[in-house]
Amino acid sequence: MSLALELKNVVGGYGPLRILNGVDFAVESGTITTLVGPNGAGKSTVLKAIFGQADVHSGTIALAGKDITRTPPRTLLRQRVAFVPQGRNVFPMLSVCANLRLGATMLPKSEIEVRMNEVLTRFPQVAERIDSQASALSGGEQKQLEIARALMLRPSVLLIDEPSIGLSPIIAQQVFTLLRELAGKGLTVLMVEQNVKRALAISDIAVVLETGRVALSGDAHALLPDPRMGRIFVGASTAAETTAAAH
Ligand SMILES: Nc1ncnc2c1ncn2[C@@H]1O[C@H](COP(=O)(O)OP(=O)(O)O)[C@@H](O)[C@H]1O
Ligand SMILES: [Mg+2]
Repeated sequence: MSLALELKNVVGGYGPLRILNGVDFAVESGTITTLVGPNGAGKSTVLKAIFGQADVHSGTIALAGKDITRTPPRTLLRQRVAFVPQGRNVFPMLSVCANLRLGATMLPKSEIEVRMNEVLTRFPQVAERIDSQASALSGGEQKQLEIARALMLRPSVLLIDEPSIGLSPIIAQQVFTLLRELAGKGLTVLMVEQNVKRALAISDIAVVLETGRVALSGDAHALLPDPRMGRIFVGASTAAETTAAAH
């Protein structure tokens, strides 16, 4: 097993504002690691700190053993790190095809078509809608399109923030299953999720963040029934379950 990502004592936030208070964890290649924790714990900030979109005050972040602390997003894309932020990130007025092309701007022109065909074989629902305007796709299809677009650059690491938000349980499950398949093919996934039960069910490792620190981490399936999880999620868990039930 080799480490795809390693965070060592990462302190950071936004400008002088400190959100992360010394975050330590590592992600093994070809696995799914899921960051969970109460609202405002700093989960999204961890992904943004890795992707050069939040400030790192001290500590280090390594990609396959190489220091990438404070590396800008464009450089990280070239180093095969992709980021799918929370929410809707497709260009709604553009076609599905144009959205996919935008994910491949750093590929040589001759490779774009080849790569698009490769990616589309994994996303039959997206392939069927290739000429549609992206805004015409359902929420689940748009999330698939975002993941497909992220895969255009053949990433080795995918950072993905709350992919299931706003999706029905069945569609959310499809997205999780897709991530599991991609990890099976060697992709390293670092995901943030509120949908703790479903997300941990398809994850290898869970990292529980609380007030900008890792409170707990370990085997995802073993942690799910751990009573310490309940304590960390007091209040938050009821809210998350209510939200999940509403979708
Ligand atoms: N761009 C920003 N500028 C300033 N503060 C921010 C910014 N984004 C998030 N925060 C703050 O950082 C804290 C952690 O946020 P976040 O990482 O989004 O938490 P989580 O994803 O765990 O819910 C929150 O208090 C939030 O208000
Ligand atoms: Mg968040």
